Amino acid sequence: MAEQYCIVERFESIAWIRLNRPQVLNALNQKLIHQLAKILEELDEDEQIRVIVITGNEQVFAAGADIKEMTGATPVDLLVKRYLTDWLRIRQISKPLIAAVSGFALGGGCELALCCDIIIASETARFGQPEIKIGVMPGAGGTQRLTRAIGKVKAMEMILTGKLMDAHEALSYGLINRVVPVHELENEVMVLAKEIANQPPLAVRMAKQSILKALDLSLEEGLHFEQNSFCLLFATEDQQEGMKAFIEKREPKYKGR
Ligand code: CAA
Repeated sequence: MAEQYCIVERFESIAWIRLNRPQVLNALNQKLIHQLAKILEELDEDEQIRVIVITGNEQVFAAGADIKEMTGATPVDLLVKRYLTDWLRIRQISKPLIAAVSGFALGGGCELALCCDIIIASETARFGQPEIKIGVMPGAGGTQRLTRAIGKVKAMEMILTGKLMDAHEALSYGLINRVVPVHELENEVMVLAKEIANQPPLAVRMAKQSILKALDLSLEEGLHFEQNSFCLLFATEDQQEGMKAFIEKREPKYKGR
């Protein structure tokens, strides 16, 4: 049986994916990333699931791509094995992704957290792109997403020195949403996930898409995208239900339709 590098737990409409290679600090080998992309796609299609959490364990989120697996690779190997292709699949996930980070989130681990829409960290979290120290550079989105998240000058410093950032510094640069005590991390993430899961799923999905477009499009194009998405939501039953419930002074019941 293939090794299970990602463990999925479901709590009603919330799915938790736990990275599971603890003996190598959850180093992201190709099989793990492949399993992760596949699981994410399956959960994205599952109408019961509204929010997906990606986490590691109390010691580590993930210490980056698997260096031992990469070490002898040639550029042709990487291309033929489509080494980074699964990362592009993760980008396509339409449901909200929350990273719950304790301990090291380095290299590909930091990049995986950056693929998520919200990052909640414990006080033990440490973020970094240390690839420069092993003769390479980030390859799973670090130069692009970290720069968009914390700005050019700080991204330059982190990526060119490989220095790590603790949770409080990460918070001050807007890399993460909040810092919580390590034993409260899962509860805090669950509360937030439930809050999002209670919102109308199609509006959540389109709002996520629209926010991500803000990083890619001109303001003009982004505003058009937002306006079209807003108008389209008026075709949903949940829009009717949300506004009716407001007028009737009751809690809405959303169906994701
Ligand atoms: N790949 C493979 N194995 C790794 C690993 C990685 N990224 N990180 C840790 N491990 C393994 C270690 O080799 C060690 O295994 P052995 O017991 O068999 O020797 C085990 O995990 C425990 O690690 P350490 O003994 O090093 O633990 P530590 O507490 O002393 O140090 C650490 C922790 C600072 C995170 C250190 O392990 C480290 O620097 N890891 C590498 C971090 C890194 O460079 N990440 C970037 C990878 S490249 C990348 O991610 C490219 C990309 O963008 C796609």
